Amino acid sequence: MSTMSVSKISHASYVTPDLARLSEYYQQVLGLSLVEEEAGRVYLGSTMDHDPEPGVADQFTFLDPKGTRIQIFHATPPSDRRFATQGIVPNKLGHVAFHVEDVVAMTDFYCNVLGFRVSDWLERQFSFLRCGPDHHTVNFIGSGEIRHDHTAYELRDWSHMQAACDYLSRNNIRLLWGPGRHGIGHNLFTYHRNPDGLITELYAELDRMSDETLGYFEPRPWHPDSPQRPKTWQMSPRLVNLWREEFPPEEMLKV
Ligand SMILES: [Fe+2]
Repeated sequence: MSTMSVSKISHASYVTPDLARLSEYYQQVLGLSLVEEEAGRVYLGSTMDHDPEPGVADQFTFLDPKGTRIQIFHATPPSDRRFATQGIVPNKLGHVAFHVEDVVAMTDFYCNVLGFRVSDWLERQFSFLRCGPDHHTVNFIGSGEIRHDHTAYELRDWSHMQAACDYLSRNNIRLLWGPGRHGIGHNLFTYHRNPDGLITELYAELDRMSDETLGYFEPRPWHPDSPQRPKTWQMSPRLVNLWREEFPPEEMLKV
């Protein structure tokens, strides 16, 4: 029985050895806006969502089973902050993927305690969990390690992704993988590293379960099943990129 039901991801926090360099990347390249700055911390946002710590009193914090600090809070009143006018300017923070020691236990915790639902499994190694209409807001990868895998930002469409790739190139940031289209989630994707080496995914056209009571993802021409419902997928090169037989390049897997 779920004790609460979270409805969206608000923010992700990172510790960095070079705050100025990382802040410049998120503002100048990714196109997030500066919300607030205080000693040793920078808060950035797209429009409404940002790190809640300045100005949010009604929250509680706990460590999840892998030791990540989770903050739960009621939605704050909408701000009038507008999207940035330079940089890639994603729609929003979309999902965060983590490596965990016990993927089944972590998935059960997020479902039973926080109210997430399983959208898909890749075998019994990789879970995709939703807390709203987006196919996944968190991923757990059962690799035996505990670490961040990637943080993903939603772009508008394929043409925004093309512009983003050009913009990354102009800023001397090379793509690690993609563009392509994933099997699970069916999003267009491309991955690169931020200045600290953490992987950023930019994606568009992620599967959506617009009506939870119907229990299937909004039909799309690239879906293999009709209707497409949550299931366990089998690993194949074609699954990780529908456009060609491909596994992630080796350098992508190095921390
Ligand atoms: Fe992702």
